[in-house]
Amino acid sequence: MKREQWGSRAGFILAAVGSAVGLGNIWRFPYMAYENGGGAFLIPYLFAMITAGIPFMILEFSMGQKNRGSAPITLGKINAKFEWLGWFQIGIAATIAVYYVAVIGWAISYFGMSFDQSWGTDTNAYFFGEYLGLGDNSPTNLGGMQWKIAGAMVLAWAITYAAIAGGVKAGIERAAKIMMPVLFIMVVGLIARMIFLPGALDGVNYLFQPDFSKIMDMKVWAAAYGQIFFTLSIGFAIMLAYSSYLPEKSDINNNAFMTVLLNCGFSIIAGIMIFSVLGYMAQEQGKPLTDVVSAGVGLAFVTLPAAINLLPAPYILGPLFFLALVVAGLSSQISIIEAVVSAVIDKMNWTRKKAASLVCGIGFIISMAFATDGGLLLLDLVDHFVNNVGILTSCLIEIVLMAWLVKLADIRAYVNKYSDFTITGWFELCLRFITPIMLAIIVSTNFIDLVSDGYGGYAKFELMTLGWGLIALLAVVGIIINIKSEPQKAEA
Ligand code: ALA
Repeated sequence: MKREQWGSRAGFILAAVGSAVGLGNIWRFPYMAYENGGGAFLIPYLFAMITAGIPFMILEFSMGQKNRGSAPITLGKINAKFEWLGWFQIGIAATIAVYYVAVIGWAISYFGMSFDQSWGTDTNAYFFGEYLGLGDNSPTNLGGMQWKIAGAMVLAWAITYAAIAGGVKAGIERAAKIMMPVLFIMVVGLIARMIFLPGALDGVNYLFQPDFSKIMDMKVWAAAYGQIFFTLSIGFAIMLAYSSYLPEKSDINNNAFMTVLLNCGFSIIAGIMIFSVLGYMAQEQGKPLTDVVSAGVGLAFVTLPAAINLLPAPYILGPLFFLALVVAGLSSQISIIEAVVSAVIDKMNWTRKKAASLVCGIGFIISMAFATDGGLLLLDLVDHFVNNVGILTSCLIEIVLMAWLVKLADIRAYVNKYSDFTITGWFELCLRFITPIMLAIIVSTNFIDLVSDGYGGYAKFELMTLGWGLIALLAVVGIIINIKSEPQKAEA
């Protein structure tokens, strides 16, 4: 079967940016920056972007395009013993997809509520209590279903399915061509209003004011690297799948730079937008900013709704904000599921519709666990392990494998041949030395911390099953598929 292809270069870039720009930029980046030293977080973040994000994006784009296959195929072609890593990445993508869609579901609900701010004045009690139904639940005691969340998730799954079943060009590319311009227009409109609110600049200053005591903290570096890989959708099968639909002679360098810079620029803009609102809210309430901000997942669903209550024309700005969150989330969810679907198509030789139906069907059922009373806690635990152990370990192994088993100088010559501008020796320097060394330090620190301190006060049993157990399971499943597979033929 002939491999599908993107219809145009712009279509590919919009889809890649659509994958990168997601909940990670609007929901995750601002609270990560806030929790990890504000402006000081930007130093490791930008360092990770330049030394890991850009070169790794070029590497994934070129390997996907050259090998014309999903992650297991590409990694298996580099070395037959490493096909399991591709499946491990597919497992990670599938795991992310089932909880990511829950956050999109929350955003859909909040979009509906934002027209009349029916979340009320106590947005904290509303979000955790009435909306999520969080009582004395735990990740292993999920309680009952929250049907309004489940309903919103059905809508998110339906849109994801429609885009993927429609095909690379007629489904995914078309969706990106609609969603991305809409998203950018909404965000530009929002920021143009928010930045002029009284007190907004105090909020922005707060975001950029560096707390340098944090810069020596390894946890801040780990957070920055984790955020870069997550936000750029690299190292967990997505960009390998997307670039496998690129035609020959594509301009890899320019595409990769554009994707990374647009994405990271978008994160900073989203941060400015959110902190402008927080600054405004602090001024309105006459309180210091630290008193009005709730850290973590609550930033977008607790603090923002409270701030929207105070805004002029909340019935316009509120829906715009939550619709932006929904659109950004959906275009990423499509790519996360496509990573899985493309691997199933490659492996089973199924039609796209059949593979998409199976993946979305099973994904939908599993994702319902996150629509329960304890769903948020399950999400928090799984997300922590997936990001801090799963993605980072997967990136470390993939980069070592590709940078040391593949001749990077040949890759550099290959991408330079068809690109508007050429890349130099920093590409090899970053991928062979700087990034693996940084990742090795970060991954080992994360392991040691998690083993000795656990995470978030969860019970040992929960950490061992839903944290470590889940990651181990994904690796074992990958290894079993690898053992049973025929070796892939390497690309000349
Ligand atoms: N790259 C996607 C995001 O940042 C997964 O949300």
